[in-house]
Amino acid sequence: MKLLVGYASTQGQTRKIARHVADLLADRGHAAELMALEEAEGLEMARFDRAVLAASVHIGHYQASLVNFAETERAWLNAHPVLFLSVSLAAAGHDAEEWRALDGIAADMAEATGWTPSQVVHVAGAYAPSRYDVFTRFTLRRIIAAKDPEADLSKDKEYTDWAALDAAVAAWLAA
Ligand SMILES: Cc1cc2nc3c(=O)[nH]c(=O)nc-3n(C[C@H](O)[C@H](O)[C@H](O)COP(=O)(O)O)c2cc1C
Repeated sequence: MKLLVGYASTQGQTRKIARHVADLLADRGHAAELMALEEAEGLEMARFDRAVLAASVHIGHYQASLVNFAETERAWLNAHPVLFLSVSLAAAGHDAEEWRALDGIAADMAEATGWTPSQVVHVAGAYAPSRYDVFTRFTLRRIIAAKDPEADLSKDKEYTDWAALDAAVAAWLAA
Protein backbone atom coordinates (compact mmCIF):
# COMPACT_ATOMS: atom_id res chain seq x y z
CA MET A 1 0.00 0.00 0.00
CA LYS A 2 1.12 3.57 -0.66
CA LEU A 3 0.57 5.88 2.33
CA LEU A 4 1.08 9.56 3.02
CA VAL A 5 2.38 10.35 6.51
CA GLY A 6 1.79 14.08 6.86
CA TYR A 7 2.60 16.03 9.99
CA ALA A 8 2.50 19.45 11.60
CA SER A 9 4.92 20.00 14.46
CA THR A 10 5.96 23.09 16.42
CA GLN A 11 8.60 21.75 18.82
CA GLY A 12 9.45 18.52 16.99
CA GLN A 13 7.72 15.70 18.88
CA THR A 14 4.98 15.21 16.28
CA ARG A 15 7.65 15.08 13.57
CA LYS A 16 9.40 12.35 15.58
CA ILE A 17 6.07 10.49 15.95
CA ALA A 18 5.37 10.78 12.21
CA ARG A 19 8.87 9.50 11.36
CA HIS A 20 8.37 6.58 13.70
CA VAL A 21 5.04 5.74 12.01
CA ALA A 22 6.59 6.03 8.53
CA ASP A 23 9.38 3.64 9.59
CA LEU A 24 6.83 1.22 11.02
CA LEU A 25 4.84 1.26 7.77
CA ALA A 26 8.00 0.71 5.72
CA ASP A 27 9.02 -2.19 7.99
CA ARG A 28 5.65 -3.76 7.20
CA GLY A 29 6.33 -3.54 3.48
CA HIS A 30 4.32 -0.41 2.67
CA ALA A 31 5.52 2.62 0.71
CA ALA A 32 5.27 5.56 3.14
CA GLU A 33 5.92 9.15 2.10
CA LEU A 34 6.77 11.40 5.05
CA MET A 35 5.97 15.07 4.57
CA ALA A 36 5.58 18.28 6.59
CA LEU A 37 2.07 19.51 5.78
CA GLU A 38 3.35 23.04 5.27
CA GLU A 39 5.12 21.63 2.20
CA ALA A 40 2.16 19.63 0.90
CA GLU A 41 0.65 22.26 -1.37
CA GLY A 42 -0.21 20.78 -4.77
CA LEU A 43 0.40 17.20 -3.60
CA GLU A 44 -1.19 14.63 -5.94
CA MET A 45 -3.37 12.75 -3.46
CA ALA A 46 -4.53 10.20 -6.06
CA ARG A 47 -1.08 8.57 -5.63
CA PHE A 48 -2.01 7.38 -2.13
CA ASP A 49 -4.26 4.59 -0.88
CA ARG A 50 -4.41 5.83 2.71
CA ALA A 51 -2.96 8.52 4.96
CA VAL A 52 -1.79 9.08 8.50
CA LEU A 53 -1.96 12.73 9.54
CA ALA A 54 -0.46 14.01 12.79
CA ALA A 55 -0.63 17.41 14.46
CA SER A 56 -0.17 18.72 17.99
CA VAL A 57 -2.34 20.80 20.28
CA HIS A 58 -1.10 24.27 21.22
CA ILE A 59 -3.47 26.33 23.35
CA GLY A 60 -6.45 24.31 22.23
CA HIS A 61 -5.71 24.28 18.49
CA TYR A 62 -3.82 22.31 15.86
CA GLN A 63 -1.27 23.97 13.59
CA ALA A 64 -2.55 26.07 10.68
CA SER A 65 -0.75 23.78 8.19
CA LEU A 66 -2.94 20.82 9.30
CA VAL A 67 -6.11 22.92 9.14
CA ASN A 68 -5.25 24.31 5.69
CA PHE A 69 -4.33 20.90 4.31
CA ALA A 70 -7.49 19.28 5.71
CA GLU A 71 -9.66 22.00 4.22
CA THR A 72 -8.00 21.77 0.80
CA GLU A 73 -7.98 17.97 0.64
CA ARG A 74 -11.21 17.22 2.52
CA ALA A 75 -12.84 15.42 -0.43
CA TRP A 76 -9.96 12.91 -0.62
CA LEU A 77 -9.60 12.68 3.17
CA ASN A 78 -13.31 11.99 3.73
CA ALA A 79 -13.31 9.29 1.03
CA HIS A 80 -10.24 7.33 2.24
CA PRO A 81 -9.13 5.62 5.44
CA VAL A 82 -7.21 8.28 7.36
CA LEU A 83 -5.74 7.89 10.82
CA PHE A 84 -5.44 11.20 12.66
CA LEU A 85 -2.83 11.30 15.44
CA SER A 86 -3.68 14.15 17.80
CA VAL A 87 -0.59 14.86 19.93
CA SER A 88 -0.93 16.65 23.26
CA LEU A 89 0.16 16.66 26.87
CA ALA A 90 -3.43 16.12 28.05
CA ALA A 91 -3.18 12.65 26.47
CA ALA A 92 -0.33 11.88 28.91
CA GLY A 93 -2.77 11.93 31.84
CA HIS A 94 -6.11 10.52 32.92
CA ASP A 95 -8.05 13.69 33.64
CA ALA A 96 -11.55 13.09 32.21
CA GLU A 97 -12.16 16.80 31.68
CA GLU A 98 -8.91 17.19 29.73
CA TRP A 99 -9.80 14.18 27.58
CA ARG A 100 -13.24 15.66 26.86
CA ALA A 101 -11.48 18.88 25.84
CA LEU A 102 -9.24 16.89 23.44
CA ASP A 103 -12.33 15.39 21.80
CA GLY A 104 -13.72 18.91 21.52
CA ILE A 105 -10.51 20.20 19.86
CA ALA A 106 -10.65 17.40 17.27
CA ALA A 107 -14.38 18.04 16.71
CA ASP A 108 -13.76 21.80 16.25
CA MET A 109 -11.10 20.99 13.65
CA ALA A 110 -13.54 18.69 11.82
CA GLU A 111 -16.20 21.37 11.80
CA ALA A 112 -13.80 24.09 10.65
CA THR A 113 -12.27 22.05 7.82
CA GLY A 114 -15.11 19.80 6.66
CA TRP A 115 -12.89 16.74 7.24
CA THR A 116 -14.06 14.20 9.80
CA PRO A 117 -11.21 11.72 10.42
CA SER A 118 -12.36 8.12 10.15
CA GLN A 119 -10.20 7.42 13.22
CA VAL A 120 -8.63 9.69 15.83
CA VAL A 121 -5.95 8.44 18.22
CA HIS A 122 -4.75 10.73 20.99
CA VAL A 123 -0.99 10.43 21.49
CA ALA A 124 0.96 11.83 24.45
CA GLY A 125 3.61 14.31 23.32
CA ALA A 126 6.58 15.80 25.13
CA TYR A 127 7.60 18.54 27.55
CA ALA A 128 10.54 20.30 25.92
CA PRO A 129 11.79 23.31 27.93
CA SER A 130 15.01 23.33 25.88
CA ARG A 131 12.87 24.41 22.88
CA TYR A 132 10.62 26.99 24.57
CA ASP A 133 10.96 30.74 24.84
CA VAL A 134 10.95 32.24 28.33
CA PHE A 135 7.19 32.79 28.50
CA THR A 136 6.34 29.30 27.22
CA ARG A 137 8.84 27.73 29.63
CA PHE A 138 7.17 29.52 32.53
CA THR A 139 3.66 28.44 31.46
CA LEU A 140 4.52 24.83 30.70
CA ARG A 141 6.54 24.42 33.93
CA ARG A 142 3.40 25.15 35.93
CA ILE A 143 1.33 22.69 33.89
CA ILE A 144 3.92 19.90 34.18
CA ALA A 145 4.49 20.54 37.89
CA ALA A 146 0.77 19.93 38.47
CA LYS A 147 0.49 17.00 36.07
CA ASP A 148 3.74 15.16 36.86
CA PRO A 149 5.18 16.01 40.30
CA GLU A 150 8.07 13.58 39.68
CA ALA A 151 9.33 15.48 36.62
CA ASP A 152 12.59 17.44 36.68
CA LEU A 153 11.20 20.72 35.33
CA SER A 154 14.54 21.79 33.86
CA LYS A 155 14.79 18.70 31.61
CA ASP A 156 12.97 17.65 28.45
CA LYS A 157 10.68 14.68 29.01
CA GLU A 158 8.96 12.48 26.47
CA TYR A 159 5.53 11.09 27.42
CA THR A 160 4.85 9.30 24.12
CA ASP A 161 3.98 5.63 24.63
CA TRP A 162 5.66 4.14 21.54
CA ALA A 163 4.31 0.61 22.08
CA ALA A 164 0.73 1.93 22.33
CA LEU A 165 1.27 3.98 19.18
CA ASP A 166 2.58 0.93 17.29
CA ALA A 167 -0.45 -1.08 18.43
CA ALA A 168 -2.88 1.65 17.32
CA VAL A 169 -1.26 1.92 13.87
CA ALA A 170 -1.19 -1.88 13.46
CA ALA A 171 -4.88 -2.14 14.41
CA TRP A 172 -5.79 0.64 11.95
CA LEU A 173 -3.83 -1.09 9.16
CA ALA A 174 -5.60 -4.37 9.84
CA ALA A 175 -9.07 -2.78 9.95
C1 LIG B 1 2.71 26.86 23.95
C2 LIG B 1 2.18 25.45 24.15
C3 LIG B 1 0.81 25.26 24.30
C4 LIG B 1 0.31 23.97 24.51
N1 LIG B 1 -1.04 23.80 24.66
C5 LIG B 1 -1.53 22.57 24.92
C6 LIG B 1 -2.93 22.39 25.13
O1 LIG B 1 -3.75 23.30 25.02
N2 LIG B 1 -3.35 21.13 25.45
C7 LIG B 1 -2.49 20.07 25.55
O2 LIG B 1 -2.93 18.98 25.87
N3 LIG B 1 -1.16 20.21 25.31
C8 LIG B 1 -0.66 21.44 25.01
N4 LIG B 1 0.67 21.60 24.78
C9 LIG B 1 1.54 20.42 24.75
C10 LIG B 1 1.91 20.00 23.32
O3 LIG B 1 0.79 19.50 22.63
C11 LIG B 1 3.01 18.94 23.43
O4 LIG B 1 4.15 19.53 24.00
C12 LIG B 1 3.37 18.32 22.08
O5 LIG B 1 4.36 17.32 22.29
C13 LIG B 1 3.91 19.36 21.10
O6 LIG B 1 4.15 18.76 19.86
P1 LIG B 1 5.24 19.29 18.83
O7 LIG B 1 6.58 19.11 19.50
O8 LIG B 1 5.07 18.44 17.65
O9 LIG B 1 4.91 20.73 18.58
C14 LIG B 1 1.19 22.86 24.57
C15 LIG B 1 2.57 23.07 24.39
C16 LIG B 1 3.07 24.34 24.19
C17 LIG B 1 4.55 24.53 24.02
